[in-house]
Parts: sequence; structure tokens; C-alpha cells
Amino acid sequence: MINPPVRPDRPARARTRRRLALVLAATGALVAGATIALAPSASAGTTLAASAAEQGRYFGTAVAANKLSDATYVGILNREFDMVTPENEMKWDATEPSQNTFTFGNADRIVNHAQANGMRVRGHALAWHSQQPGWVQNLSGSALRSAMVNHVTQVATYYRGKIHSWDVVNEAFADGGTGARRDSNLQRTGNDWIEVAFRAARAADPGAKLCYNDYNTDGQNAKSNAVYAMVQDFRARGVPIDCVGFQSHFNAQSPVPADYQANLQRFANLGVDVQITELDIEGSGSAQADNYGRVVRACLAVARCTGITVWGIRDSDSWRASGTPLLFDAGGNKKPAYTATLNALNGGSTPPPTTTPPPTTPPPTGGGCSASVTLNSWTGGFVATVRVTAGAAGTNGWTVALTLPAGATVVNTWNATSSAASGAVQFRNVGYNGRLTAGQTTEFGFQANGTGTGLTPSCTAS
Ligand code: XIL
Repeated sequence: MINPPVRPDRPARARTRRRLALVLAATGALVAGATIALAPSASAGTTLAASAAEQGRYFGTAVAANKLSDATYVGILNREFDMVTPENEMKWDATEPSQNTFTFGNADRIVNHAQANGMRVRGHALAWHSQQPGWVQNLSGSALRSAMVNHVTQVATYYRGKIHSWDVVNEAFADGGTGARRDSNLQRTGNDWIEVAFRAARAADPGAKLCYNDYNTDGQNAKSNAVYAMVQDFRARGVPIDCVGFQSHFNAQSPVPADYQANLQRFANLGVDVQITELDIEGSGSAQADNYGRVVRACLAVARCTGITVWGIRDSDSWRASGTPLLFDAGGNKKPAYTATLNALNGGSTPPPTTTPPPTTPPPTGGGCSASVTLNSWTGGFVATVRVTAGAAGTNGWTVALTLPAGATVVNTWNATSSAASGAVQFRNVGYNGRLTAGQTTEFGFQANGTGTGLTPSCTAS
């Protein structure tokens, strides 16, 4: 027997999976011919990637380069997933720390790992208001616009041919009921910055699917309506956009919307793929499991929902670890949420869920501002993301005071300036994010050595 030719760019695992998919497809066709209907559960996979592949979808996870030496982490990654998103390593601060000097080391480690193990890569994110290097934060106007186009072009060119989908623009719309663009330094370069970024990305890597990605757009609301109108306009005018990513970060305050599937479907109806890009659902046990099942079934019910990515592997890997939002516990064991996800992918017979009430954003009360912090910690360091919310009077500027634990020192700050590196630190708005309307939020972040446990921010508005 002659062996089929082996394509050098196809790792063995991907070939096996493809052959399996072909066999399954053929089997399915035969059985379907002989019976009336074939439930997708006819060939239950035993991993997330295999089961998703049987449904013609990918199943991905965010990956952190510094965890690729963790054997438990890599064991689960290689067993369960066939798509990876670098969690931070392709962001602007990571890839272009000073202007026109590009550093791809950590992103390359993830891409190389993916390629060696038959996984594809979602690129994240080319143009975003957050996690910008300091030099970008200090630019505006045409200088910033050219820097943005150069960044998109250089990074997408470097990874040309290696990226399944790029999040070309991330989080460009404001929360709340206005349907407005988010105020940011990029937005201030002119309303056309998004389409300019997409055109630059297409020119640099014509093979990658180009996505717009956002959060709080998972159900129908003012923000998702605004994104919908933009995508519709882009399609009508021939601006190159292929997909819309729905981050899908859920918790009690922001539950899986009752109209999640309908919302995915209306975007798909515009002629774009939809992808669930950063899924995590805070909670535990059967409630969390039910929600994961709902999300998976919603995607499977939408033909153009091409894949699901969870935002990390174990709860302890999560950017909001305290909410235990992922599919594996800190020890790497499968949680009920894992089983519900796998069963849903295998077309298990879980009945349609009862609906949860639609999300309600608590209205801002009083003047001033408030701040909350989320931590991403590792041994010896952490990244703190601080969300500032304006009170009823709005802000002209804001200051967030934080006392760092002994031994903790700030090494990098974005979207704010810091008054000191240790002890009591005041973070002040930069030029483009001081002015907030009532209830409007903005985020800044910093990276530090040491530990960040117990950080309690307090916000003062001016
Ligand atoms: C988060 C990462 O998970 C953290 O490690 C980092 O400190 C902050 O960013 N929306 C996005 C992601 O598009 O890039 C964010 O990732 C989570 C929210």
C-alpha cells in the first residue's frame, strides 16, 4: 500500500484528526442515508478539540508563554485544545515596546508550540486602547495614526501565514446605553481608525480572517447594536472584515444573556463568521456547568459560529482566578463545567436551559468615581488591571490611590501615570482617559514585582 503524501506543514496530530473527521463524516453520511435523523452524539469525542472538530469547530484556549514549562499545563493544552490565543504576548506593549523595535520572543514560543502540536493560532490583538507601551500612550493625532498602521502592518506581516484569525481591533465601543465609540487615543485619531486598521491587516496577511472583538456585546444591547451597525457598514462598503469575536466573560453581574444565540445569529447573518473568543464563567458546580453547556449549544446552533476559545486552562491560570471561571481546577482536574462542555459538544441530551434574567448594569450613584482591581499573578510578579467608573457627575480627571504590599514594585504602567514605584502609589489619568461621563468606565494597568494580594484601590475624581 502506498502511503498518502505527507504535507510538511501538517503536524501528525492534525493529520490524524482530519482523517478521523473524514471517516466520521463518511460514517455519518451512510447512517443518515439509512435512518431519518442522526444525532450528532453518534460519535462522541473524548477531548474538547476532537468533539468540536466532529462538529466542524475548533476549541481553543488562551496560553501564557511563561507556563509552557509547566508539565501539567502543557499536558492539558496538548490533549484538549486545537487553537491557542496568546493571552498577552501579541499585544502592542509586548511586541513593540519601543517604536519600531519589535520583540516577538514570547509570542513565537506560543506559535512554535502550537505549530509543533497541530494547533492553530488566534492573533490577539493588533489595535487596542489597553496594554499599549508608554511611547504609544504619549502619541496622538497623525503620529499615532501612522504608528498604529505601522504596528498592524509589521506584526501581521511577521506572522503572515501563521494566524487563523486576527483580532484586528479590540474593544472599540463604549459600555452603557450610548452606542458610542469608546474614547481612546486611537479613537481621537479619527473615526476611520478601525477600517484603516482592517485594511492594513488585510494587506499584510491576506490569508488571516480579520475579526472585530469586544465584550458586553454577547446579547442584544446598545453596544452590540453599534458594533452590528459598524459591521453592516463595513460589509456594505467593502471594508475587509471576516469575523466578530464575542469575548463572553460571564459572572453573576453579567450572566449568559437569554438572547445569546439570537445575537450570534444576527451577526452571522451579516455574512461574517462569529467566534467565542475569551470564554470564562465565574461560579462552580452545576450552575457553572449549565452555563457552559448553554454557551456551547448556542455556538453549535449557529452555522457560522466557527469555534470557541476559553480564556485559560486551569482556574489558577485565569486573569480572574478568584472566580474559578474555567474548565479545570487548580490541580488540572476536569470540573463539572468541563463535562458539560464536552457533553454539549457531543450533542448530549441536556434539555434546553431555563433562561437567566438579562444583565443589568447597576446605575452609578453619587459623584466621584470608584475603582476595582483584577489581578493576574505569577510567582514573583503580577499585572493589576484597574477599572475606574465615574459617578453621576462624571469626571474631568481621576486619581486612584493604592498601597502596594511590602516588597512589591511597579515596573510598567499603561493608560495612567504612577507617582511612585512602591508603597502608597497614586495613579493619575493620562490625557485621553480623564474625562468620563456618568457611569463611564476606563481601565489602566500596571505590572509589578512581588505580590499584589489585598490591593484596595480608592478613586478620587476632579
Ligand atoms: C487580560 C489577560 O488575561 C491578563 O493577563 C492581562 O493582565 C490583562 O488582559 N479582554 C481582552 C483580553 O481582550 O486581552 C484581556 O486579557 C481580558 C479582557
